[in-house]
Formats: sequence, structure tokens, C-alpha cells
Amino acid sequence: MKIAVLMGGVSREREISLRSGENVVKALKKLGHEVVPIDVKEDFFLVLPSLKQFDLVFIALHGKFGEDGTVQALLDWIGVPYTGSGVLASALCFDKLMTYRIVEKFVPVPEYTVIDKPTRESPFGFPCVLKPRREGSSIGVHICDNAEELEHYSQIELSLYGELVLQRYVRGRELTASLIEMDGELRILPILELRPRRRFYDYIAKYTPNMTEFVLPAPLTEEEYRAVCESCLKAFKACECKGFARIDGILKDGIFYFLEINTIPGMTDLSDMPASARAAGMSFEDLIDAIVKTVRR
Ligand code: DAL
Ligand code: MG
Repeated sequence: MKIAVLMGGVSREREISLRSGENVVKALKKLGHEVVPIDVKEDFFLVLPSLKQFDLVFIALHGKFGEDGTVQALLDWIGVPYTGSGVLASALCFDKLMTYRIVEKFVPVPEYTVIDKPTRESPFGFPCVLKPRREGSSIGVHICDNAEELEHYSQIELSLYGELVLQRYVRGRELTASLIEMDGELRILPILELRPRRRFYDYIAKYTPNMTEFVLPAPLTEEEYRAVCESCLKAFKACECKGFARIDGILKDGIFYFLEINTIPGMTDLSDMPASARAAGMSFEDLIDAIVKTVRR
């Protein structure tokens, strides 16, 4: 197949997307496809018409203008099939507030509120979590231990993002589940437990070698495993995701608290979904091949 790989992009996750994209390009070439990498920049709309010649667009973009439905809408406009979720699910899942409003009807979500002004007050006590409403890779996420920290970080992040989600901090085990449609069925790859050498699995813990221990498969009781799987399947379906996605959450006292859905999970050497795939006996090429096969053309 002739496949264009969109990578880079203009979001704060650009560097990560380049790392994901490079791996995807290599894998697609190994699989025998004709591959053209495209670094997506501000003038993407000029490149857009040339994408009509491809059988498929593999979107390896992360963050704003890539994972949020905007690029998906442009590809719908020109009628080229692409990997992953469509416009609606992409836009929904990139917005944590809207995701919570939908997903909380089906699975436990730590209590949250939205703020648009710096604050010292947390309705959930301390520590609490502050995160941009729309961002990825834990950029701009802070665990605040007191009113001073909350004020400080809400001021900084509000100057970059119009709105922030303030959320109850759940101290538990950080888990992530990678989901993929295979042979007409939504499958969950082995669940990964992240044990970061930092307070949480933040940007540094995610993308610096040896900063996070991967425990794969996560040691879970049968009940815990069932709870995580059920929640993830419900969340994926409730948001009408397509193809593949990765769901992050916290396990505490047998309850899996949903944190977010990543509709374009990282594909870097340190990323979670490729690790979960490996634990399922799938090479990186097998994973990329499976993602390509999720696309209905
Ligand atoms: N947002 C990053 C790329 C991830 O979820 O893996
Ligand atoms: Mg994310």
C-alpha cells in the first residue's frame, strides 16, 4: 500500500510525535509498504490535496492539531482513510472535561472541576491534581500539596491554557491498558503497571530512559483485572473510539479510576502500547500492521 505518515505537528508533543513517526515509518517499510513521511507544519493545508494519492494516512501526531479531530476532519474532507478514531471521538478524548462528563456515566472518575482563574482553593483537599483541559504527555500536570502550590501552578498554566481541570488526587497504582480491534473484536493487550522513579508518570518519567519501571503484565488479582478491563472497554465504547487507543487510570482498593483515553498513543521506544504489544508476543511491526488492518477502507 501507499501510506503517508503524518508526524511532528505543531503541538507541545512535537518531539514525541517525531519519535513515534520515525518508528512507524521504519515498521511500515519493513512490512513492504511504500511510505512517505510528512512533517506536519503550519502550512499543512497546502500539503493536504497531495494526500489524495495515498491508500491510507497513518496519523502519528500527538496533541493539538493532530490528535484532537482537526486533522481527521481535513482527511474526511478529502476522503482519504486514516488510522484511529474519527473526528468526534478524537475531539472528545482530547478534552478531559468532556471525556469525564461522558465516561463518568459508566466508570469511576476521580471528582473534578474546571477552573479559568488562579485559585488557592481545592474542593478536594490536598494533594490535588491540576491539568490542562486539552494537552498530552502529562505536560502541564501538577500534583499540588498546598494552597501556595495550587495558586502558583494555576497561575502559570492558565497563562498557557484557558482552562484547567482540578481533580481529586487518588494515590494508587498507575495502570495503562492498550486496546486494539483485531479480527472484529476489541482486544486488550497485557495491562501495564508504571512504577516511575518520580512522584508520578510525568513527562520526564515517560521519555527519559530508566526513569520508570514497566511491570508487564501488571500483577492483578482476577477481580482487579476484570475491573480494569470492563472499565476500559466501557470507556472506549462510550467515547466511540475506533481502531486503537490507550487508557490510563489509577487502581486503588480494587477500583479502577479512569484518567484519560489517548486516541493516538505514543509509539516511541519508551512508549507503553508497543511494550504491551511485545508482552502479547507482537513485534512493533506486528502492532503497526494490526493498526493498519483496523482501518475500514
Ligand atoms: N500522549 C502520548 C504520546 C501518549 O499518550 O503516549
Ligand atoms: Mg494523554
